[in-house]
Amino acid sequence: MQVATLKRVARPFEAYFNISQPELSERIEAIRRELGQELVILGHHYQRDDVICHSDLRGDSFKLSEMASRRSAQYIVFCGVHFMAESADILSKPHQKVILPDLAAGCSMADMATIEQVEAAWDELEDLGIRSILPITYMNSTAAVKAFCGERGGAVCTSSNAKGIFDWAWGQKEKIFFFPDQHLGRNTAYAKGVSLDDMVVWDPYQELGGNSVQALEKAKIILWKGHCSVHGRFQGHHVDEVRKEHKGINVLVHPECKWEVVEKADYVGSTEYIIKAIANSEPGSKWAVGTEVNLVNRLKNEYPDRFVRLLSPDLCMCSTMFRIAPENLLWALDNLKAGSIVNQITVSKTVAHWARAALDRMLAVQ
Ligand code: 13P
Ligand code: SF4
Repeated sequence: MQVATLKRVARPFEAYFNISQPELSERIEAIRRELGQELVILGHHYQRDDVICHSDLRGDSFKLSEMASRRSAQYIVFCGVHFMAESADILSKPHQKVILPDLAAGCSMADMATIEQVEAAWDELEDLGIRSILPITYMNSTAAVKAFCGERGGAVCTSSNAKGIFDWAWGQKEKIFFFPDQHLGRNTAYAKGVSLDDMVVWDPYQELGGNSVQALEKAKIILWKGHCSVHGRFQGHHVDEVRKEHKGINVLVHPECKWEVVEKADYVGSTEYIIKAIANSEPGSKWAVGTEVNLVNRLKNEYPDRFVRLLSPDLCMCSTMFRIAPENLLWALDNLKAGSIVNQITVSKTVAHWARAALDRMLAVQ
């Protein structure tokens, strides 16, 4: 009998794990000073504190890419996940190079819709004669899926502009095919007055996505069977429990949460919306927040005169965001200083062209 052995994959920045935290921090800051305007470090709101403290710009996925494209820095170090770095590369100027400190920082939601699956699903719908349909993808998808939408007249959306993009899409076609987050799609369509009966879920592992021809013909929106493993952990009973425990608490959740959680919440909105809601709230107010724990803890620390807690009692952390650490950030910067570019994220020309078309359509609609 053959016994499988697990190989330990060497990471090029392994030696950096022997460096103390203060030294890592000092060396990162020294390189930032040295490279000056040549370097911009972007940090997504879900990054850990010991990483985000080194960023020049903080934001949600779209805001960061947009901000980076307006900077002239030659090196864009993206402290976030792979699809964000791809979008930054698509929107960047030709002389700019985008670096992701750990290539294993992916996104399980983006991985749930591969381009091959999306193309196969589209072909199945075409074979059924369903033509009045526009593909729309969430920012949290691969560049290839964005390009697929761009090439077919569709667009990208983010959690902050999904409603406007859905209006735009339904203004042109009868149906939307939405990837990869079923929850954002369902919550947005429901808020626009579409009944749950007029939505179907497309399971890429089943014929016709697991639907009848009639259901597909009737649907106003076809939702890809994808979800965020972090936001998907919040449950309706967490809302009930937190309300019982803290009288008068406000429940504020991200639209990647399940429909029943969003229905029970007081407020729903993107990462930027969540930050603004807490920032503009009254001192003494109470908040249970349904989003990634690093952001919730940061808000808790930044607003000590308000009561801020995670919606669920268990940890909702994005483990791939967490992969970006001071160790691999310093490793990437040390290499830059030495004239070597490591972990560059590049999107091929054709994919970038069509993905950009989908991103530009989104910008034109807002
Ligand atoms: P935003 O950054 O657009 O708020 O999306 C949340 C998220 O899950 C990022 O991965
Ligand atoms: Fe992906 Fe969810 Fe992590 Fe965002 S929080 S990177 S959607 S797994």
